[in-house]
Amino acid sequence: MKEIFEKIWKLALPYLKKGKRKDFVVHTKGVIKAMELLLKQEKGDENILIPAAILHDVGWSKVPLNLQMSNDKAGKIKALELHLKYAPLIIKEVLIKCEYNENQIKKIIDIVLAHKFKNPRRLDKRLLIDADTLSDAFRKQFFSDIKAYKTTPEELYNFRKNNQFYTKTAKIIFNKELNERKKEFLRAPN
Ligand SMILES: [Fe+2]
Ligand SMILES: [Fe+2]
Repeated sequence: MKEIFEKIWKLALPYLKKGKRKDFVVHTKGVIKAMELLLKQEKGDENILIPAAILHDVGWSKVPLNLQMSNDKAGKIKALELHLKYAPLIIKEVLIKCEYNENQIKKIIDIVLAHKFKNPRRLDKRLLIDADTLSDAFRKQFFSDIKAYKTTPEELYNFRKNNQFYTKTAKIIFNKELNERKKEFLRAPN
């Protein structure tokens, strides 16, 4: 990763560690990797989209624990809303330290705010949503989620296989990865 992205990553880490709904450090690493893969094929500004990937879930750090762990639908939605609500201030703080300008910071915040409850037209916003969903199929992320959600590989596989994507690039990588996960858990069932 570029030096500036490493700096953003280091500043994001303490926030990501405070998210408890799942392992947001592992998750975010997956989203960054997914974004890097997507940007090899899709048009987008990495100086905007990689920071958006790194910072998209920092808002979880301020969501009350009982809401993060909520099992009912209303609680889950509230938690998701709050993780968006708390994101902009943290993102601003981090990016100012990394000498991002106001215009860049605004672009990154807009992209992050569109990663839930929205069906954006713009490709940059779509790429973050795709990267967020694509990361679920990577090995480390898949098996980390099994722990966090106390589920089985089969159940998670059946749930994840319905994931939807905007770009064909994401869909192709996702199918390939998820197929690998299936092979892995069939080979070594828990
Ligand atoms: Fe999120
Ligand atoms: Fe996420």
